[in-house]
Amino acid sequence: MIEKVVRFNRVTSTQDKAKEFVADRHPIAVVASSQEKGRGRQGRNWFSPEGGLYLSLLLFPKERVTSIPLLASLSVIRTLEHLGLSDLSIHWPNDVLLKKRKVCGVVCERYQSAVICGVGLNVNVETFAPRLDGATSLKVETGQVFGVDEILDLFLDKFNELYEELQSKGLKIKEVLNYISGLGESVEVVTKRGVIRGTVSDIDDDWALLLRDESGIIKKFYYGDVRRLQW
Ligand code: BTN
Repeated sequence: MIEKVVRFNRVTSTQDKAKEFVADRHPIAVVASSQEKGRGRQGRNWFSPEGGLYLSLLLFPKERVTSIPLLASLSVIRTLEHLGLSDLSIHWPNDVLLKKRKVCGVVCERYQSAVICGVGLNVNVETFAPRLDGATSLKVETGQVFGVDEILDLFLDKFNELYEELQSKGLKIKEVLNYISGLGESVEVVTKRGVIRGTVSDIDDDWALLLRDESGIIKKFYYGDVRRLQW
């Protein structure tokens, strides 16, 4: 359970800052107003100007858990619903979409005995990296300015609730499947080993994507980028 928040103004990346606290072995959230070198999944950059929420959760889970990124995405969804937003979904593995556009990204990495789960939420940001033509922010979608600190507090409450549930009795991923976008759709999954086309068949209890490929074989993915072939 995260009880402490450590705040910074400008950092290179909250993922790196979080590493400095690993020896304390206390779960904390590291937050920054902006990042010089925000990191996304698969070595991509995460454009991090002021106005966004940039945080890294430093966690010490009791056992290996593959669902932590899902907990983070789901906590973002519950936070945004609490603020009255709707049309939210999770694009596997861990992008949160608002009106089918990416509003939040999650990246998790292991570091020594810890898992560092980074969350970037476009709150009041209005410009995006040129590559991100599908990106949006809360401000762009609603015309309103949101309190980044209020969102952080709500997010931590929602995350703590789900994390306790996961640690005490295990989280039933099936219960959150109604938020997953793309089930039954034709997609291609891009991994370091290649591109596989198929239909999204299910998400496993360990948060793996099950894809029925073009010859009908079910393939399981723990990582990768999913591109829709149709909306
Ligand atoms: C992605 O969609 O590729 C994941 C983006 C994750 C960005 C967040 S912002 C806070 C934390 N610090 C980083 O450098 N990255 C994560």
